[in-house]
Amino acid sequence: MNVIDIINKTKKSYELTDTEIRWIVENYTNGGISDYQMSAWLMAVCINGLTERETFTLTMAMRDSGETLDFSRLGKITADKHSTGGVGDKTSLIIAPVVASCGVAMPKMSGRGLGHTGGTIDKLESISGYRTELPFYEFSETVRKTGFSIISQSGNLCPADKKIYSLRNATGTVDSIPLICASIMSKKLALNADCILLDVKCGSGAFMKTRSDAEKLAVLMEKVGKSAGKKCRAVVTDMDSPLGNNIGNALEVKEAIEILQGKYKGRLYDVCMELTADILELAEKGTLEECRRLAENAVSSGKALEVFRETVRLHGGDCRICDDVSLLPQPRYSYEVRAVHDMKILGINSEEIGMTSLILGAGRLKKDDTIDISAGIVMNCTAGDCISVDDTIMTLYSSTVSDFSEASFRAVNALKFCSI
Ligand code: URA
Repeated sequence: MNVIDIINKTKKSYELTDTEIRWIVENYTNGGISDYQMSAWLMAVCINGLTERETFTLTMAMRDSGETLDFSRLGKITADKHSTGGVGDKTSLIIAPVVASCGVAMPKMSGRGLGHTGGTIDKLESISGYRTELPFYEFSETVRKTGFSIISQSGNLCPADKKIYSLRNATGTVDSIPLICASIMSKKLALNADCILLDVKCGSGAFMKTRSDAEKLAVLMEKVGKSAGKKCRAVVTDMDSPLGNNIGNALEVKEAIEILQGKYKGRLYDVCMELTADILELAEKGTLEECRRLAENAVSSGKALEVFRETVRLHGGDCRICDDVSLLPQPRYSYEVRAVHDMKILGINSEEIGMTSLILGAGRLKKDDTIDISAGIVMNCTAGDCISVDDTIMTLYSSTVSDFSEASFRAVNALKFCSI
């Protein structure tokens, strides 16, 4: 087999055989194919796409490049959830304990934030002592004891994806639906839960900016999951405005705990309850309506918060935050963005809010940038709200930035409003 022939076939939109796809993945992973040849093939895929069969084979080849986990000894149905990333998206911190307290186990591996999007692992690291790296035995034991555990991607899972994803980042080949599908689904299939819920975000703060692209990705990922023998569902949810009021790592943990304490309802709570109901239905816990009720009861009874507390404790984290969120890292500086006249908020651009949060220190531009876990934004309004002159629209926080001029300029730019 010859890599030039494979590049040429995809360049001319001819279908590759399963053997050719497996060969290019194996040989790139083991160093037999150079970065420049793989980049040429990835660019051909970006331009011409892949068929569903090719995408499925690529996903399986990437999954098979490393180990596959096995939770069968838990004796429980397992579920996994993936969000394609966004701004203020702390849904995993809420959904995992809720699902676990309804009797479905959630072993989860999550990532770190990059650019305007946040990552669950950074959020968890704002809890003092919380270990995001656990050996498989401890990861699985935590899931057995409490029903869920969230750790960073570790072990030898999907080495092909690690290598291909960093090449895609460096060669402008990230925005391809079959490549995104294969990258996400290979990791989900390597974790190997029985049920997989895919939450494809759509809008200004998401990878997929249009509904039609988000739906294409959702349909493709669901097909790949089902073809691999999983109970799999993909839903498209809105990321045109940030999810919840808080953006930034410790601030998002605080908001997640407050939701688990039953203090707040609203869009974030509703999205979490809907996604949880989808997972519980996939796990055959009842009809969608029954599952939604199970989820709501897990929050209102305080059961989900107890599960969260115990998981944090087993990870070595300070679980007193479940009663006192002021024990989370506190920012040194703050700045209130106030309305200069009466106004109606028409929209909030999530990507701009994500970039404001990054400027404050909460995010990273490059993979190994350090972050300020106390930094971020608390929004005091959502689209549709009317604000009076001098009311606080949002508060900016940081421990590393004390001059808020750049961040506040960007924050105001994120708002679409009209005078009233
Ligand atoms: N997230 C992934 O894991 N892979 C992609 O290709 C895009 C987003």
